[in-house]
Amino acid sequence: MNLGILGSGLMGGKLGTLFARAGHDVVFSYARSQEKLKGLARDAGGRARAGTPREAAQEADVLLLAVHWSRVDDVLKQAGHLVGKLILSCSLPMNADDTELVVAHTSSGAEELARRISGARIVAAFNTVPSEVLLGVFEGRGNASRPSLVYCGDDTRGKETAARLISDLGFDPVDAGPLRIARYMEPFGLLVAQLAYEGEVGPELAYRFERCGG
Ligand SMILES: NC(=O)c1ccc[n+]([C@@H]2O[C@H](COP(=O)([O-])OP(=O)(O)OC[C@H]3O[C@@H](n4cnc5c(N)ncnc54)[C@H](OP(=O)(O)O)[C@@H]3O)[C@@H](O)[C@H]2O)c1
Repeated sequence: MNLGILGSGLMGGKLGTLFARAGHDVVFSYARSQEKLKGLARDAGGRARAGTPREAAQEADVLLLAVHWSRVDDVLKQAGHLVGKLILSCSLPMNADDTELVVAHTSSGAEELARRISGARIVAAFNTVPSEVLLGVFEGRGNASRPSLVYCGDDTRGKETAARLISDLGFDPVDAGPLRIARYMEPFGLLVAQLAYEGEVGPELAYRFERCGG
C-alpha cells in the first residue's frame, strides 16, 4: 500500500519505519526539519521517502495521522484534499500540557476528526500502545501469541485495511466497533500513556493487555 505519514515524531517515525520494513511505500511528512524526514526515510529503507503533507496525501491509500492535537488543523490544511481518503488516527485529543483529554465522554477526538474532515474515512488505531514497544512487537511478529491492538471506525473496508496493517506490525487486530467506541479507547489510551512513563517497566506493562475470552 501507499502510506502517507502526517507527523513523523515518536509514533509516526516508528510506525512509518515499520510499515516500510513490512513492504509498504511510505512518505514521511510533517516534522520541523526536512533533514529529519530524509533521515527517517533512509533508515526505514525500501521505497520510503520524505515529502510534504500534500505529497504524502496525494498518492496515499492510507494516511497515518500522528501529530499532537494542537497541530491537527495545521497538518490537515497542508495535506489538502482528503475526501475519500482513509485516515488512521493515533492522535489523542490532549490539552496543551498533555494532562487531560479535551474531547471526552460524550464524544471523542476520532468523531471530532470525522466532523472536521468531511468525506474522509476515519479509523482510530495505535493510540492505545506506547511507541516504545512497537519495534519489539514487530521483531516478534512471527510468534504464535501476538499482543492485541484495538481499533474502531464506521467504514467497513477502511477497517479491513487497518486490520491488515495492524497485523503487518505484529499485533492481533481487535475490532472494537463503531467510531463512537473511541469515547472509551481514548481515555484508555491516555491511561496507557501515563502508565508507559511510570518507571522502567511502564512501556512493557502498558501494552500487555490480552484479549479476554475466545
Ligand atoms: N508517543 C506515544 O507513545 C503515543 C502513544 C499513543 C498515542 N500517541 C498520540 O500520537 C500523536 C503523536 O504523538 P508523538 O508522541 O508521536 O508526538 P511527537 O513525537 O511530538 O510527534 C509529532 C510530530 O509533529 C511534528 N510537529 C510538531 N509541531 C510541528 C510544526 N510546527 N511544524 C511541523 N511539524 C511539527 C513533530 O516534529 P519534530 O519531529 O520536528 O519534533 C513530530 O514529527 C499524539 O496525538 C499522541 O497523543 C502517542
